[in-house]
Amino acid sequence: MKTNRRSFLKTVACIGGMSALLPQTGCKGISGVMTRRGASMAGFRAEPLDRIRVGIIGIGARGTSFVRRLAAIPDVDIKALCDIREERVVRESKILVEKGRPMPAAYTGSEEIWHKLCELKDIDVVYVITPFLWHVPMALYAMQCGKHAAVEVPAALTIEDCWRLVDTAEATRRHCMILENCCYGFNEMLALNLCRKGVLGDLVHGEAGYIHYTGKSYLEEDLTDEKGGQWRQRWYKQHTGNAYPTHGLGPVCQYMGINRGDRMEALTSMSSASLTRNRVVAEKYGKDSPQARDAYKMGDVNTSIIRTRNGRTIMVQFATSNPRPYSRINMISGMKGIFADYPLRVALEPDVHDWMDENKLKELKDKYVHPLWDKNGEAAKKMGGHGGVDFLMDLRFCYCLKNGLPLDIDVYDTASWSSIVELSERSVLHGGTMVEIPDFTRGGWETVPPLGIVTM
Ligand SMILES: NC(=O)c1ccc[n+]([C@@H]2O[C@H](COP(=O)([O-])OP(=O)(O)OC[C@H]3O[C@@H](n4cnc5c(N)ncnc54)[C@H](O)[C@@H]3O)[C@@H](O)[C@H]2O)c1
Repeated sequence: MKTNRRSFLKTVACIGGMSALLPQTGCKGISGVMTRRGASMAGFRAEPLDRIRVGIIGIGARGTSFVRRLAAIPDVDIKALCDIREERVVRESKILVEKGRPMPAAYTGSEEIWHKLCELKDIDVVYVITPFLWHVPMALYAMQCGKHAAVEVPAALTIEDCWRLVDTAEATRRHCMILENCCYGFNEMLALNLCRKGVLGDLVHGEAGYIHYTGKSYLEEDLTDEKGGQWRQRWYKQHTGNAYPTHGLGPVCQYMGINRGDRMEALTSMSSASLTRNRVVAEKYGKDSPQARDAYKMGDVNTSIIRTRNGRTIMVQFATSNPRPYSRINMISGMKGIFADYPLRVALEPDVHDWMDENKLKELKDKYVHPLWDKNGEAAKKMGGHGGVDFLMDLRFCYCLKNGLPLDIDVYDTASWSSIVELSERSVLHGGTMVEIPDFTRGGWETVPPLGIVTM
């Protein structure tokens, strides 16, 4: 059964109801294995690749930047591009040829044509860079066709779909990595290094967020697909909770070794009312207008608190509608000190009552810069993509694939970080009731070591 967009959108309102719409069969030769669960994917090493042959689905704002960055990595061949909008595929294909790269195969013109890209024989990885409702069916089918799946954030929107990603990765022995670029930020990697070297002591509490004032992007005139407005705002009209948890949460989970020595086990979540969005819409179009009647459910500020099995806590926030400076919070507190971001501050024993002064902070950064940034930071900054963060993620992902190494972010991270979308909504809708977070590792977290200080 192939997916159909209209039936997808109907189901958006009904969280957890998407499973019936997912493709049920894999490619020839693989179908039949999907109902069985394979061995754990923790530490999974795929066959090393001489060259990494990729197909990219979704050539919008984000997909375009992927095409241009991946084209700059010597061992990567962009074999195929897909988007429902032909002009985007044509534009990027032309740019690739101008750069001396071979013309990629083009798949365009229909909402289902991406199946053909996944079925190509000469592709190793499918990048899924479409609106988030499409992520799971595309990633599942890519894995069923024997490709690794690299999926934009959040990878899935429901618990059921998170499990589908896990089950399918395990059954097909293909990687499924959420493209959580924020794990590769300079400050995030500095914090990771401080945690691994024990500078902050045993970790106790972390704070994370996606606080990004996107202006009045919820007004009708901004709701064009050109700006990616329609699909995001449609979700915000029908859902509450935290729609975008992984940018802040991913790095904090890596600091704490979540799914590798610890795991998230329960969450409670509350949302403010959707004051800003609904008030601005009512003021602009009138309180009895169709726009105001079709009100937003997504609260202006959502706050979740997570408890881990080892007794730590994580606070995660989501706020995109009220005016305030950008922040992912990015705080980690241990028994010997604290690292906080936006702006960067560190305090270490014995001077924990004040933040370090600028000179001491610079010394600390020089001493504990993460090796990935130390070696590749300048090249990454030149290439750009959120200040080099995106390119560093691309380089490291391709390095792991090339060398058959386990990925820094595996399918269990992909599922558990994304699971906060549904779990936070469930908790909010039940007055902040505590909800259980599934153990997507099925107990594997107890024996897997935390992500080390990786290099390339
Ligand atoms: N990691 C980050 O920093 C970051 C930043 C922005 C967006 N994102 C994520 O990236 C993804 C894409 O966001 P965007 O801002 O590029 O959105 P966008 O709307 O600009 O682009 C999406 C593209 O997908 C295409 N598309 C939609 N349905 C399709 C289908 N069935 N088949 C083929 N193509 C299809 C659209 O035509 C469009 O070109 C989202 O999941 C978003 O959450 C991540």
